[in-house]
Amino acid sequence: MGSISEGTRRVSKVDGARVLVYKDRERLFGEAAAPFLDLARNRDIRHPVVGFATGGTMVPLYKRIVSEVKANRISLRHVIPFNLDEYLGMDPRNPDSYRNYMKVNLEDLTDIRSTHLPGRDVLSFERSIKDAGGIDLQYLGIGTNGHIAFNEPGTPFDSRTHIVDLADSTIHDNAKYINNGSSPTRASTMGIGTILESRSIILIATGVAKAEIIREALEEPITEHVPASIVRMHPRATFMLDEEAASQLRH
Ligand code: PGA
Repeated sequence: MGSISEGTRRVSKVDGARVLVYKDRERLFGEAAAPFLDLARNRDIRHPVVGFATGGTMVPLYKRIVSEVKANRISLRHVIPFNLDEYLGMDPRNPDSYRNYMKVNLEDLTDIRSTHLPGRDVLSFERSIKDAGGIDLQYLGIGTNGHIAFNEPGTPFDSRTHIVDLADSTIHDNAKYINNGSSPTRASTMGIGTILESRSIILIATGVAKAEIIREALEEPITEHVPASIVRMHPRATFMLDEEAASQLRH
C-alpha cells in the first residue's frame, strides 16, 4: 500500500478501503464528523440513518459533532440513530450503560432523537434498521482483540444482531469505564453482516494500544479471528488513524 502525503494526513488504500493517517487529532475528528454533518444538512435526504459507536475513542467525535452543530445551527431532529451494542441486563439509567453514554455525549446536547440500541429482542432491532431504510453511515471503533461492536474474534462475517458473552480481554479493557457495579459479561450487538450492509463505514482508532491490532486488521490475511479485517473489503470504508494507532503499519 503506497501512501501519499497531504499536509498533516497520509492517504493510502488497502483492498477497497481508504486508510487515512493523521498527525493531528483535531483534523482526524473534524474529518470524521464531516460526513455525518453533510448527511444531516442534505435536504435531499429526509431521514439520514446513522450508526453510532461508543467507547473512549468516540468521545472527541461527539465533542466535535456537538460543537459544529451548535456553531452552524444544524438540526439533527430528522436523523434516525442506531447504536452498535449495549450491555445486557444493565439498567439503562446506569451511568455506565451505552444508553447513558449516548445521552450524555450527544442526546442531551443536540436535538437528535433517542438512539435505537440492541437488546434481547435482536430481530426487532434488525427490523428497525430495515424499516429505516438501512444505515447510511456507520461509525466503528476497534477493540484491542480486533472486535467491531461486540463481535468478538471468531464471530462469523455473516452474523446478524445477536447476544454475546464478552471476551475476557473486552471485560478487562472496558473495566476502566465501569464505575457502578461489576463489569458486564454479556451484551447485545449488531452482527458483522448487519454492519457490512451499511452504505459507508468510518472506523476510527487512536493510541498506541491499537497499533498491533490495526496492523493485523490491515496487513494480515482477512480472518474471522480479527473481525475488523473484513471492513477493508467494504466498498466505502475509511480507516481514520492517528500516528500512534498506525505506528506498526509496515507500508
Ligand atoms: P475504546 O473501545 O474506544 O474504548 O478503545 C473501542 C471498542 O472496543 O470498539
